[in-house]
Amino acid sequence: MKNVQILPSLLAADFGCLAAEILRAQSSLADQLHIDVMDAHFVPNLSFGPDIVKLARRVSPSFKRNVHLMMTRPDLYIENFINSGASSIQIHVESQCDVHQTLSQIRRLGAKNAIVINPPTPVEALKPYLDEVDEVLVMTVNPGYGGQKFIAECLSKVTYLRDLRPDLDIMVDGGCTDETIPLAYAAGANEFVAGSYLFAQNDMKAAVQSLRDKLKCN
Ligand code: DX5
Ligand code: ZN
Repeated sequence: MKNVQILPSLLAADFGCLAAEILRAQSSLADQLHIDVMDAHFVPNLSFGPDIVKLARRVSPSFKRNVHLMMTRPDLYIENFINSGASSIQIHVESQCDVHQTLSQIRRLGAKNAIVINPPTPVEALKPYLDEVDEVLVMTVNPGYGGQKFIAECLSKVTYLRDLRPDLDIMVDGGCTDETIPLAYAAGANEFVAGSYLFAQNDMKAAVQSLRDKLKCN
């Protein structure tokens, strides 16, 4: 099984003290910071731009920045996000760009790439890209907002991909808690984004450790 990774999603942080929240996430010994970029077109919400990625690099240079682009035209912003400090960039298979070209541009500019799939999209849509990606992100909510309910039906995609590619990094995002992460792990995922669950904790470090312990026991 691939290495387990836990990623707090900054969308659920207290925006009144973002720098302190980024430091809190890093101090929790989570593996990377997940940064959700929304363009109010691909999803019905607006969130962060490249300046927030720069802020994360400034306050926590050694904490990797995993940037999830929920954008209709992610291709127009790849260079900007990489120059701002993205360590990995995730683009949607449903976006309106040349996905092959954009995935290869991300790698060429020195970041890891990933393809993301929304709940209604059939898993077969990913097949043309599996040889070109470092990671697949299976959405377990319809993207746009934090704090939504985990859609367990999406886990059949995780199992399908895990059977097909034992070595692939498979991430899940949306509605991840101490109850749903073990289900996703059992289905074959090895990377877990958690926003509202982790940022609501008084002791995020203990919560991250307890998630890791839970997965080891299974
Ligand atoms: C949803 C975002 C998620 C979100 C997860 O559009 O892509 O990363 O922050 O939030 P929770 O963990 O609260 O569902
Ligand atoms: Zn996300």
